[in-house]
Amino acid sequence: MRIAIIGQGYVGLTIAVGAASAGNSVVGFDVNQDLVNQLNSGNSHIEGISNSQLAGFVSSGLFTASTDPLVLEGSDVIVIAVPTPLDRDRNPDLSFVHAAAELINQHVKTPTLVINESTSYPGTLRKEIAARITGVEHLFASSPERVDPGNTEWGTKNTPRLIGGLTPTAVAKAREFYASFCDSIIEVSSPEVAEAAKIFENTFRQVNIALVNEFAQISDALGISSREVIEAAATKPYGFMPFNPGPGVGGHCIPVDPSYLAHVANQVGVPATFIKRANEVNLAMPAYVVKRVVAGAGGSIAGKSVVVVGVSYKANVADTRETPAAAVIDLLRAQGAIVVWHDDLVGSWRGESSAALGKFDIAVVVIKHDGVSDAAIKFSKYVFDCTGTIADAEGI
Ligand SMILES: NC(=O)c1ccc[n+]([C@@H]2O[C@H](COP(=O)([O-])OP(=O)(O)OC[C@H]3O[C@@H](n4cnc5c(N)ncnc54)[C@H](O)[C@@H]3O)[C@@H](O)[C@H]2O)c1
Repeated sequence: MRIAIIGQGYVGLTIAVGAASAGNSVVGFDVNQDLVNQLNSGNSHIEGISNSQLAGFVSSGLFTASTDPLVLEGSDVIVIAVPTPLDRDRNPDLSFVHAAAELINQHVKTPTLVINESTSYPGTLRKEIAARITGVEHLFASSPERVDPGNTEWGTKNTPRLIGGLTPTAVAKAREFYASFCDSIIEVSSPEVAEAAKIFENTFRQVNIALVNEFAQISDALGISSREVIEAAATKPYGFMPFNPGPGVGGHCIPVDPSYLAHVANQVGVPATFIKRANEVNLAMPAYVVKRVVAGAGGSIAGKSVVVVGVSYKANVADTRETPAAAVIDLLRAQGAIVVWHDDLVGSWRGESSAALGKFDIAVVVIKHDGVSDAAIKFSKYVFDCTGTIADAEGI
């Protein structure tokens, strides 16, 4: 099959490589010329796809990247994998999805299968994509992406894939496409069910992370270790699922997707109270971390040297989107601390560069990548650990 993928970020490139590995001919369309040049030179920008793997597909002709929308015409399948962020008021921003629909509307005149993988609320495929593409009888399906960057156990091939389509023919064609590189495909009765499943999965995580973050604060006030309690509770063989406390939530998904669900809930007159409260608890975690650091460091951090370890949103990835490390650093500085950060995977961020670990007054470990040594962190006089992995350190 000839596959075109709109958006070559984490999701789009992952699907591109998955589809190319099954022998499909893939063109990755993106508006970012630098990114397209990098991809055509065999340079991958995401974890989990190596340069050699990408370069292999480029040199065999199975993958090419382009900024020319004319490449979309003549495809058997067009996959949309563009950002779905929140606007300033934390409402869904579907402008990228609308732009992708407009590209298809303008440039694709031969009927094809259009699949949306971008995460959004139920009704997006039908009302925000299909309704905007007129004059050609395309097929439409939704298959929300479940990629977990950095996860070496679950990838595109073995993570079950949901499909919902506007017609049975769309579902059948989408199944044929995904069956070429995915082991397990689950058809649901409508695209709305597939779309809702994705945002409910992420809302489930957001709410449970907030619950455990609140529990960590209760446990600390009670003088018991939340992590030991969670481990103990997890010995129950049924009815409990462990989540770990942390400095908040980051990345493109968990802090964002639940607000898409809250948005449609409000539209149909149902208050999404859990989502609202979970957002409040998770967004307040950086302030809780800094409060604990100040208390642990003797009541004041003014003038003290602090290194924040790990500024990406989770271990072993370089993605800093929505990272709670930003608020932790800002709040430490607001208390007068002299703050640098260390994260070799990120390298440079917010106009600053990663600093070497050394003898600081305080080390605040927000995220710990595999390559970071506990011994180097412990050069600092006081260590506050948000990851629960550093022996004998205070933390959450
Ligand atoms: N990153 C994840 O772990 C993950 C996991 C599951 C689902 N998702 C969802 O997948 C979607 C894409 O996320 P991502 O992480 O790949 O985003 P990303 O920011 O990594 O990549 C998006 C790409 O789309 C490009 N783009 C923007 N507008 C475009 C347009 N009009 N035409 C062509 N390209 C365009 C951007 O240049 C960028 O390269 C989002 O809805 C996200 O919620 C992401």
